[in-house]
Amino acid sequence: MATPPISSLVSQRLLGKVAFVTGGASGIGEGIVRLFHRHGAKVCFVDVQDELGYRLLESLGGDKDPNIFYSHCDVTVEDDLRRAVDLTVTRFGTLDIMVNNAGISGTPSSDIRNVDISEFEKVFDINVKAVFMGMKYAASVMIPRKQGSIISLGSVGSVIGGIGPHHYVGSKHAVVGLTRSVAAELGQHGIRVNCVSPYAVPTNLAVAHLPEDERTEDVFTGFREFAKKNANLQGVELTVEDVANAVLFLASEDARYISGDNLLVDGGFTRVNHSLRVFR
Ligand SMILES: NC(=O)c1ccc[n+]([C@@H]2O[C@H](COP(=O)([O-])OP(=O)(O)OC[C@H]3O[C@@H](n4cnc5c(N)ncnc54)[C@H](O)[C@@H]3O)[C@@H](O)[C@H]2O)c1
Repeated sequence: MATPPISSLVSQRLLGKVAFVTGGASGIGEGIVRLFHRHGAKVCFVDVQDELGYRLLESLGGDKDPNIFYSHCDVTVEDDLRRAVDLTVTRFGTLDIMVNNAGISGTPSSDIRNVDISEFEKVFDINVKAVFMGMKYAASVMIPRKQGSIISLGSVGSVIGGIGPHHYVGSKHAVVGLTRSVAAELGQHGIRVNCVSPYAVPTNLAVAHLPEDERTEDVFTGFREFAKKNANLQGVELTVEDVANAVLFLASEDARYISGDNLLVDGGFTRVNHSLRVFR
């Protein structure tokens, strides 16, 4: 086999690392799977949307590529998640990087009196309980090896209110709390625990929250316009790849001393006051 050029080896920032990505069949998760694969990682990705999962797997080489596989897994079911992590370790020998990406936003609601508690529980099940279970099973593999990186998806809703349903914002604040708490325990084992919190990225999850009066024939076009209009940073549109790059950074050796952090990928959205419009 021909030796790859040095430039491509240097640019493969996860060469030989084993990664597990939840909710990897679409949206931001798909972007993370593609980027990790391109950077030389061995990747197991899981989802409940099997058709999309297998389609992505095929597009990355399918059965011909021994470094990637897809498995069905509902992250809210503890046995499913444990089995998928076990499968990854059996197949690839270990686990270096856990990405808790799967999430839902819940049904939009503008009146707390109408919030269905079963909806609240569903969002917390996926966005909080499953993230904790992901941390737990990743830690089981990583503690004996005294290394690892666990990254969970937060949101701008992890640090401010008013950007989505109460259950979504509450759940994303909880992801930051879990990240800090688990980082406090796992630091002694050399394991880093962080989260990445993006502003609006045009995915199925996000477009569902576009206000009715902002909707255009193509909901994605309407969403992009809405996100642009309300962003702090102008002249650049936040993409799935931008978020995946932040996750790659935290997964890589470049972030070897970063733990307990919430990396905001929001162009300053949560750090500036929009209402006074002092500079516009
Ligand atoms: N898109 C945004 O604007 C945005 C902004 C901030 C944070 N986020 C966060 O990014 C993450 C990914 O969101 P996205 O925008 O790519 O959404 P998405 O809907 O495109 O992707 C989410 C994926 O998670 C999967 N999933 C849902 N429930 C699951 C379950 N029980 N088990 C396994 N997989 C499951 C879905 O099938 C889907 O493939 C979420 O945690 C979300 O809260 C998104």
